[in-house]
Amino acid sequence: MPRLFVKRLAALASVLLCAHVAIAQSSLSPTPPMGWNSWNHFFQHVTDADVRASADAMVANGMGDAGYVYVNIDDGWQGTRRPDGTIQSNDRFPDMKALADYVHARGLKLGIYSSPGPKTCAKFEGSYGHEAQDAKTYAAWGIDYLKYDLCSFGDKLTVAGNGDQAAPAAFAAQQEAYRKMHDALVAAGRPIVFSLCQYGMSNVWEWGPEVGGHLWRTTGDISDKYDRMALIGFSQAGLSRYAGPGHWNDPDMLEVGNGGMTLDEYRTHMSLWAILAAPLLAGNDLSHMKPEHLAILENKDVIAIDQDSLGKQGDRVSALGPYELWTKPLSHGRTAIALFNRGELAHTMRVNLRELGVPPGAHIRNVWGNADLPFSDIINPIIPKHGVVLLLVTR
Ligand code: GLA
Repeated sequence: MPRLFVKRLAALASVLLCAHVAIAQSSLSPTPPMGWNSWNHFFQHVTDADVRASADAMVANGMGDAGYVYVNIDDGWQGTRRPDGTIQSNDRFPDMKALADYVHARGLKLGIYSSPGPKTCAKFEGSYGHEAQDAKTYAAWGIDYLKYDLCSFGDKLTVAGNGDQAAPAAFAAQQEAYRKMHDALVAAGRPIVFSLCQYGMSNVWEWGPEVGGHLWRTTGDISDKYDRMALIGFSQAGLSRYAGPGHWNDPDMLEVGNGGMTLDEYRTHMSLWAILAAPLLAGNDLSHMKPEHLAILENKDVIAIDQDSLGKQGDRVSALGPYELWTKPLSHGRTAIALFNRGELAHTMRVNLRELGVPPGAHIRNVWGNADLPFSDIINPIIPKHGVVLLLVTR
């Protein structure tokens, strides 16, 4: 075969492969990603053994069956680069490919973490100047998800913007950095969910999909405290129009089970994230969890609300002081209604369901009460301090 012909054929095959991966890439995450991430419990001390134990626990405790599929290693896995620039994992992760095989063998997927900057937030090696190489390494290891965290790229933004990270030139540099890794992932030939993490700067929800993001953090970091979780979660009001199948707002990972909130507060956390169509990435130690925390993470109705195929994010309908009413439209004409009490005392909240468009005779399920409510136009449930009543309404 003439050489030129072979070369052209190879070029065509590579274009077709890229197009195929680009299509596969864009159809990833039709519903918000679900899984687990190491950061909120293990921080940068996470090990291969912790990740394997989490994968095992997810299978054993039913989370895998409930829809939690990604097992995501956050910051702290990176070692040094080889002389040719290839990234290596550190001593705590002796063999990434073997770890991916282990996770895949359990029907789960493996995620990893990096930064567009030279260093990650915990000062490990970032991908700056090695984007294509790192994407290829991730693909070769069998990685399925990448969280790409701005961290030290902030310094590059300061330089690009001449001291102002919000300047147009800095904004362009940031978009370029995210697009570059997206293109590198596509070129590497393995569908990989691309999670942008830059804490909601520059209205990322307006341009996240353009740079290839399947989800983007909309806030700074969550912590295992009610005040911080509530500040982040309730600040999402108004962002619903930016989410949809394949592109999700991400108010950060879950803290359920880490021990810093009451059960009512964790139910509020989970309910609000479901109303927000947020990614559900558990962040606790799955190998040592209390049954009551597992029950919150595995509640079928709350998961169905989050994962509804319509892919619409819910939003706030009203706030009367600390008493908030949120709704989320669901497929088949169903609706989720959440009554939140952000106050410091239990409170009776009066809600007119008719005014929310609930027709007479609708079927009303009280999600956390695990029971059906008799239909009535006006409901007056007592909501505990920092608690929630979550209703799933079927016409
Ligand atoms: C940032 C992110 C966190 C976590 C840490 C890791 O703070 O927002 O979610 O990934 O970096 O260093």
